Amino acid sequence: MLRRPRRNRKSQVIRDLVQETQVATHDLVFPMFLINGINNREEVASMPGIFRHTPDMLIDEIGECVELGIKTFDLFPSFDDKYKDKYATISYDESNFYLKTIAEVKRQYPEVVVMTDVAMDPYSSDGHDGIVKNGEILNDETLEVLGKMAVAQARAGADIIGPSDMMDGRVEYLRDALDDNGFEKVSIMSYTAKYASSFYGPFRDALDSAPKSGDKKTYQMDPANANEALIEAELDELEGADMLMVKPAMAYLDVIKLLAENTQLPIAAYNVSGEYAMIKAADQKGWLDGQQCMLETLTAIRRAGAKIILTYFAKEFAQLQKG
Ligand code: PBG
Repeated sequence: MLRRPRRNRKSQVIRDLVQETQVATHDLVFPMFLINGINNREEVASMPGIFRHTPDMLIDEIGECVELGIKTFDLFPSFDDKYKDKYATISYDESNFYLKTIAEVKRQYPEVVVMTDVAMDPYSSDGHDGIVKNGEILNDETLEVLGKMAVAQARAGADIIGPSDMMDGRVEYLRDALDDNGFEKVSIMSYTAKYASSFYGPFRDALDSAPKSGDKKTYQMDPANANEALIEAELDELEGADMLMVKPAMAYLDVIKLLAENTQLPIAAYNVSGEYAMIKAADQKGWLDGQQCMLETLTAIRRAGAKIILTYFAKEFAQLQKG
């Protein structure tokens, strides 16, 4: 036999020498959920190990994560129904606890990178990412709300704005709004190829943000399509996005690879709530080794071409790396 591929697998040292892909803690973004109040945290039932924190407890948790080497956090607020309206007005009200928490995180940890989510759903009485009129999700009218939301988040201190709404033209609209208000240094990580996925279920439980009627299929992408992701990527790039994201990750590794091969921008992938929940549930049942599945999953997402991974496993991964 001329070729024996097993020679390169004969010991851990050799395997490490030839290993093509590594995941580092600094590649990870930790998505975290925020609730109003003090000194409280509630575990998300469908996401074991993941909590909704009050601002003070979130600050403590971020401190622990920073010690472990996690430096980027994507913060998601859960608002009480009484604050929600059709136009997500509370989202850009400077007195809202989410914006105040962003400012406090940046005050206490100036080196930490705070990413935010730009979409109407956690603030909307309709539970949609845009303004609903006669059952339709309006595009251009929604951009105005998103612009105000992004500027308010930048003003609070956000470093990276994450439009997750999938309205057309929003990257350019947000870039202009940010620049016009003096926030030209604030980055945009666009949810470029965000699919209408059932893997977001646990997230919507965590934020109580499920649509009150209909679904998100007129704005989020059809899971059957990959070429369409190239159109979205081209537009986001032209409109000024700094990083492109694919979401979810595990069932969309081909899309991650496709975008990575067609752009020079860094690719991010969102290892979403349902993907986390599946591994945790199977681990709890003793059906899978959750830790090994986590490592394999993150490696596969990296291998497909994502440099950045948003994942609820961030803290667990960092703890494991630290030993
Ligand atoms: C808001 C938003 C969602 C997620 C991130 N931002 C939910 C949705 O679009 O319905 C999902 C994240 C996850 O499932 O972990 N637009």
